[in-house]
Formats: sequence, structure tokens, C-alpha cells
Amino acid sequence: MKKILVTGGTGFIGSHTTVELQQKGYEVIILDNLSNSQEDVIDNITKITGVRPTFGKIDVADRTQLFDFLAKHQGIESIIHFAASKAVGESVKEPLKYYRNNVNGVINILEAMKEFGISNLVFSSSCTVYGQPEVLPVTEQSPIQPALSPYGNTKQINEEIIRDFIKVNPELHAICLRYFNPVGAHPSSLIGELPLGVPANLIPFITQTAAGIRECLSIFGNDYDTPDGTCIRDYIDIVDLANAHIAAINRMEQGKQKTGVEFFNIGTGNGLSVLELVKTFEEATGQKLNYKIVGRREGDIEKVWADTSVANNELGWKAVVPISQTMLNAWNWQKKISNIK
Ligand code: NAD
Ligand code: UD1
Repeated sequence: MKKILVTGGTGFIGSHTTVELQQKGYEVIILDNLSNSQEDVIDNITKITGVRPTFGKIDVADRTQLFDFLAKHQGIESIIHFAASKAVGESVKEPLKYYRNNVNGVINILEAMKEFGISNLVFSSSCTVYGQPEVLPVTEQSPIQPALSPYGNTKQINEEIIRDFIKVNPELHAICLRYFNPVGAHPSSLIGELPLGVPANLIPFITQTAAGIRECLSIFGNDYDTPDGTCIRDYIDIVDLANAHIAAINRMEQGKQKTGVEFFNIGTGNGLSVLELVKTFEEATGQKLNYKIVGRREGDIEKVWADTSVANNELGWKAVVPISQTMLNAWNWQKKISNIK
């Protein structure tokens, strides 16, 4: 069995990716410092797959901890590096926390690849690197724009660090996946997103409103230059997203890369407005959602969605889960964690 290290593996995207990896026969070793997740996620992954992943409570930004851990787990061929701090608003208030955690994490991971002979890396990047693109849909050739937050800046800096390092270490390979908006939960309702406090992101706010935890969803602006005036995003199902990582690993394992570092947009290719998404949620779940229109949120992008043709053709990967099913999975997960029958 091929061994793979998943950093941030108890988090939202890492846990779903671990399930898909295990189901495709990989031996998964998870490392997470539990700064934004809980260890019982490991139990729930095990319930889904029947296989318990190895787990280490390790801070990837601490080089000694990481190296000691890897010295005990030889034979790893690939790393999927999810571990990072990801709250955009917090990154504006505490920029150094973000630079320290997210940039040191990548530097340590790259050094570890060299030291322990680990060939392949998948890095979690974001469509945030494109800012508000002038031309839609966004291709991988669209210009990278100045970052709107320290969080976004860490993604740009990390892409550059990876590019520079792979250039002089041609035996190593990397793929940066630029996610659009990851949403949903595993169909088993055993794992999903667990936001701390009041959710900043749309889907957890929607499901918590439907569950009665929040009184009302505030829709941030209906005066944008879009058909219904609300912002447009490309919402990608979490299991589809997880599978994009496996396609990326397979590409590197099979030596199919065209350059040492590659970049792929991971989305559905379809843009949905906030109002369209609310309507889809209501239709898919039968839940009426209490919402009101309020002013714009500072820093929001008006519209963005992916051109996924490169990912489709090169990775042989495509998003397949319908958004109505994604909304139903997100709602079932919310019901589970809120004990709603
Ligand atoms: P998450 O917070 O659910 O998962 C990240 C995990 O990393 C958490 O379990 C956290 O405890 C862990 N972690 C953080 N710092 C660590 C450290 N120093 N050492 C070890 N573990 C550490 O977030 P997620 O949504 O699963 O995101 C995963 C990755 O994808 C992140 O790099 C994020 O920036 C990126 N990303 C996420 C989104 C999104 O909307 N969710 C969009 C684009 C990119
Ligand atoms: C956010 C991050 C971005 C990250 C992306 C991936 C910010 C500014 N950006 O983007 O860096 O890559 O997540 O998940 O946080 N909305 C409401 N009401 C709410 C919440 C959201 O109307 O209560 C709207 C927003 O205005 C936006 C859409 O819903 O139009 C999606 O918002 P959100 O889920 O926060 O994601 P992004 O803003 O796309």
C-alpha cells in the first residue's frame, strides 16, 4: 500500500480527502495540531472506511516536531498539505500568526520532502490568488492579483516558494490546487465542516439558520453587477474536491506532469448567486430560510467562477455531485451535529 501523509487531516477538507484516499487503497498518516479540529474526527473517518488512519498531534510549523514524526514513519511517497490557518478576517487582525503558521509550514514540508525522500506534494491553494478577475471564467493563466488579505498573501507566497524549490530539486514534484468555494459534507453525515463561533462563510450560516441557531441569514448586497444583484461563486462539493487530490497524486505517481510544478483550478465551472444558492437549499431540503438583504461586506469579490477545462483534461477529474445533493448533505450534517431529527 502506498503511504501518504495528510497534514491538517482532521480538518474539513483533509478528513474528506483521507476517506477517499483510504477507499482507493492508500495508507494514510494524518498529522494535525488540532488548532481548528477535533481528534474524534479520526473515529468518524474509521466508521466510514473501516480503516483507522495513523494520527500524530504535530505542529507542522515546528520543524523539530515534524522531522521527529517523519523519522518514525518512513516510506511516505506523497504529502497533501492542508494544515494552515484559514480565517480571512482573523488574518487581517493577526497577520504574523498567518505568515508564521502558513509560510513556515510549507518551508518545513519542502525541507522534509528533501530530507526523507518524499517525492510528491499537493498544496491547498485558493482562487483568492485571482482577486476579482477581469475575464470570466478564470483560467490558470488569468493574472495573479495583489492579495486582499494576509491569508490570501500566504497562498501566493507559498505557491512561489514551492515553484522556486521544485525548480532546483527536479526529483521532487508538486501540484497546487486552487480551490473555488468548498462546501457540503460527507453523504454519511459522519464528517463535515465544524466552524468555530459565528460562521463567516455562507453555507454554514445557511444551515445554522435553518437549524434555528441563527435567527436570520444576512445577504451581503444585492446591488452588484450580476443578474439578481447578489455575488456569484463557484461552489464545489467537498467529496468532488477530495477526489481532485487523488487525481493530482495519481498524475505525479504516473509521471504525467508537464512541468515540475503545476496549477489547477478546482471548481465546477458554474457560477451561482447567493439568492440562487438559498433557493437551491430551500428546494433540496424543504426548509424555508429566513433571510434579509443587508449592505455589502467589505473586501467581497463580485463574481468568480472557474474554467475547469485544464483540470478536466489533464487531471482527468470533473465535479459530478449536483449542488442540490451538496446542499442536502450539508443540511443532514447540520441536523446530525445539532441533534435535529
Ligand atoms: P480546516 O481548518 O478545517 O483544516 C485545517 C486543519 O489544519 C485543521 O484541522 C487545523 O487544526 C490544522 N492545522 C492548522 N495549523 C496547523 C499546524 N501548524 N500544524 C498542524 N495542523 C495545523 O480548513 P479546511 O477548510 O479543511 O482547509 C484546508 C486547506 O485548504 C487550508 O490550507 C486552507 O487554507 C485551504 N483552503 C480552504 C478553503 C475553504 O474554503 N475551506 C478554500 C481554499 C483553500
Ligand atoms: C471566502 C474567503 C476566501 C476563501 C473562500 C473559500 C473572505 C473575504 N474570502 O470567500 O479567501 O478562499 O472563502 O471558501 O472571507 N455571504 C452572505 N452572507 C453570509 C456569508 C456570505 O451573503 O453570511 C455571501 C458573500 O458575500 C459571498 C458569498 O456569500 O458573496 C460566499 O461567501 P463566503 O462563503 O464567505 O466565501 P467567499 O467570500 O467567496
